[in-house]
Amino acid sequence: TILVLDFGSQYSHLITRRLREFNIYAEMLPCTQKISELGWTPKGIIMSGGPYSVYAEDAPHVDHDVFKLGVPILGICYGMQELAWINGKQVHRGEKREYGPSKLHVLDNTNPLFEGIDNSTVWMSHGDKLNGLPTGFKVIAISDNSPFCGIVHESDPIYGIQFHPEVTHSTMGKVLLKNFAVNLCHAAQNWTMENFIEKEITRIRELVGPTAEVIGAVSGGVDSTVASKLMTEAIGDRFHAILVDNGVLRLNEAATVKKTLVDGLGINLTVIDASEEFLTKLKGVTDPEKKRKIIGNTFIHVFEREAENIKPKDGQEIQYLLQGTLYPDVIESISFKGPSQTIKTHHNVGGLLEDMKLKLIEPLRELFKDEVRHLGELLGISHELVWRHPFPGPGIAIRVLGEVTKSQVEIARKADYIYIEEIRKAGLYDKISQAFACLLPVKSVGVMGDQRTYEQVIALRAIETTDFMTADWYPFEHSFLKNVASRIVNEVDGVARVTYDITSKPPATVEWE
Ligand code: XMP
Repeated sequence: TILVLDFGSQYSHLITRRLREFNIYAEMLPCTQKISELGWTPKGIIMSGGPYSVYAEDAPHVDHDVFKLGVPILGICYGMQELAWINGKQVHRGEKREYGPSKLHVLDNTNPLFEGIDNSTVWMSHGDKLNGLPTGFKVIAISDNSPFCGIVHESDPIYGIQFHPEVTHSTMGKVLLKNFAVNLCHAAQNWTMENFIEKEITRIRELVGPTAEVIGAVSGGVDSTVASKLMTEAIGDRFHAILVDNGVLRLNEAATVKKTLVDGLGINLTVIDASEEFLTKLKGVTDPEKKRKIIGNTFIHVFEREAENIKPKDGQEIQYLLQGTLYPDVIESISFKGPSQTIKTHHNVGGLLEDMKLKLIEPLRELFKDEVRHLGELLGISHELVWRHPFPGPGIAIRVLGEVTKSQVEIARKADYIYIEEIRKAGLYDKISQAFACLLPVKSVGVMGDQRTYEQVIALRAIETTDFMTADWYPFEHSFLKNVASRIVNEVDGVARVTYDITSKPPATVEWE
């Protein structure tokens, strides 16, 4: 394992990512990690970039014990400046910030870090720079603007580079990271998803032991389904999945999830129909944030109550709560902010742990989303489910604008169903990141047959995005939109008009509420 120490750069997680592409396992921890408390010995250490200045009073610094491990060390950007600061304080603010592409000139091609790397484009993002060579180091690469673009210690395998090899704009960056991990650290290239399944099942069995029971909520989405399938593979029916039907799920969702999880995947699932309870609590509420809060709190309440009803046959207590936390959530919660760590509680089930005195089990916490999908496919979960669009926790409640009632939810979910069905038929589902229908709280005049109608409006949304932070609307063919609009108005009572949302994010958000 390679240890990545995170100094807070927006690119830090990409370092782990790139190494995994070469089947090398890496773990990221905050830069303040005490080496004596690590509990394992890394094969090598990478110190990431970061937004701070090493010479600032409150700047984060690495535990000097990293140098006692005797393993190769690579400092990237801030990580390199940290090396320089420790070895002679040769860091100052550059005259101008360097941001964007730059040309790398490799001075020493025989150095194992630069094997197979010639002069190429690298990505820079820094304000501070080295103003001299740190004590005991020599230069092995320069760039147009950085005379100390790559440095190495005269006798120890300690390297520093000013650019970011983890971003794809650094054309040879991946090779450099691999060179570091393989040539210098001799890290094993055996991290595969098949191995992961095997190791994770063993880990779960050891952790849970021969008798304890585990409970977990499923939503019908990819993360909770994959996590549940993995648990089932490990401990069979000692894993209890619960689907809470909150009355604002997609059309026929509870039945569909039951069929897929129970019949298809052999998961021990209980479906709780709490729709009346949720809809009663949502009565009269129009504020989006209030809707979210009510749904989140009611969910915790229902889940706790129903968990009480699940009494394992052998009188065992439920001891663990399964959560489908992914690696990006973990990174967010360990990220270094200021001189101390901030720990964020994940999602809306955080409260369950304290109230129910359960221990947490997170089998996906090492994985990125696309790795979870790959894992799902290996576990025999259908392509359709594995590539399903995300669906928000508050569900259709935030897609019925204004008050949420049973009849309004019914209109919204029927329109949504038709829309998604047509998207699938047109072969567009996998090209779109998320699509759904919203029911607007306005009435509009229409004419059907010889009758004047006065009914509501459906807004269709479809977006393309990689991270959901920014998004573009999907450019459907006009004929496609025409067909969907016609089907919705003809088949869904209560709708007189259909519109298509052509706003990107920003300035709009993906959801309408
Ligand atoms: P926005 O509307 O913020 O949506 O641009 C970005 C992504 O987040 C989803 N979303 C939610 N997911 N609970 C969730 O679990 C929520 O309250 C929530 N609000 C938005 C949205 O569907 C999109 O994928």
